[in-house]
Amino acid sequence: MTTSGKGQTALVTGASGGIGLDLAECFAADGYDLILTARSADALETEAKRLADKYGVGATPIAVDLGEPGGGKKLADAIAARGLDVDVLVNNAGYGIAGAFNGSRNNEQLGMIDLNVRALVELTHVFWPSMLAKKRGGVLNVASTAAFQPGPLMAIYYASKAFVLSFSEALWKEAEGTGVHVSCLCPGPTQSNFRQRAGTGKTRLSRTGTPMPSMLVAQQGYRGFRDNRRVVITGTRNAVVAHVVPFLPRRTVLGLVHSMQSPV
Ligand SMILES: NC(=O)c1ccc[n+]([C@@H]2O[C@H](COP(=O)([O-])OP(=O)(O)OC[C@H]3O[C@@H](n4cnc5c(N)ncnc54)[C@H](OP(=O)(O)O)[C@@H]3O)[C@@H](O)[C@H]2O)c1
Repeated sequence: MTTSGKGQTALVTGASGGIGLDLAECFAADGYDLILTARSADALETEAKRLADKYGVGATPIAVDLGEPGGGKKLADAIAARGLDVDVLVNNAGYGIAGAFNGSRNNEQLGMIDLNVRALVELTHVFWPSMLAKKRGGVLNVASTAAFQPGPLMAIYYASKAFVLSFSEALWKEAEGTGVHVSCLCPGPTQSNFRQRAGTGKTRLSRTGTPMPSMLVAQQGYRGFRDNRRVVITGTRNAVVAHVVPFLPRRTVLGLVHSMQSPV
């Protein structure tokens, strides 16, 4: 078994379930100690113990609401107070809300920006300098295939993921040659609690194909990060679509996404 992460610590946000928990398991399997964070303290406690026992790594659960203003700083302070350091930051916590912008709830729309964008930037800003100073580790950001085009009927979610993709690619370039890795994982539909919270279960998109298992998505993301791949799109169909979209007229793309995000 390879243990290339031995002596390093990976902080994984949104690690109480879904893709984040499986990403945490990939890092643990490679010897990384873990810091697991999300809001659900009990789930974090249980999963930290399970992963520590299974892989013989350290695993520290820290429950924080990263959607709250100052959530990122609160988490960074809690990590420092425990005398822990972060080599790899996995910005995975995020959510989407389906539906037209008109009539949507203000707190949910702004909440997506707070969690998917603001907290991700805040945490990266905290840990980035020490990664560069140590010339190792890096950032694995979880965006989505939503990042590659605007998303009528899920506008803020798509825009938030476009931000994550753009930010990640820029950081990848800034880190080039330093030994610090940056990858942006772009999953398509994936089995997790995402759909339940997003309310996307009735859309045309949700009827096309079977969502990928979250562990498969996590494994592809982990391998991509290890190889410092700038962008990792999971699934062949998702990759083909993402590469074709820039060559289509924008008006056509908007019509297609609007149709896919419409209830059937
Ligand atoms: N599933 C998909 O189809 C899909 C596709 C593309 C991209 N993604 C992206 O993948 C990432 C992971 O999503 P998932 O599919 O694994 O969904 P999930 O099962 O709903 O997991 C989301 C994670 O984020 C945490 N979280 C939510 N709100 C939080 C907050 N305010 N503060 C801290 N943690 C919070 C949740 O834990 P708590 O509830 O305990 O806080 C949970 O651990 C997201 O960024 C999502 O946008 C998902």
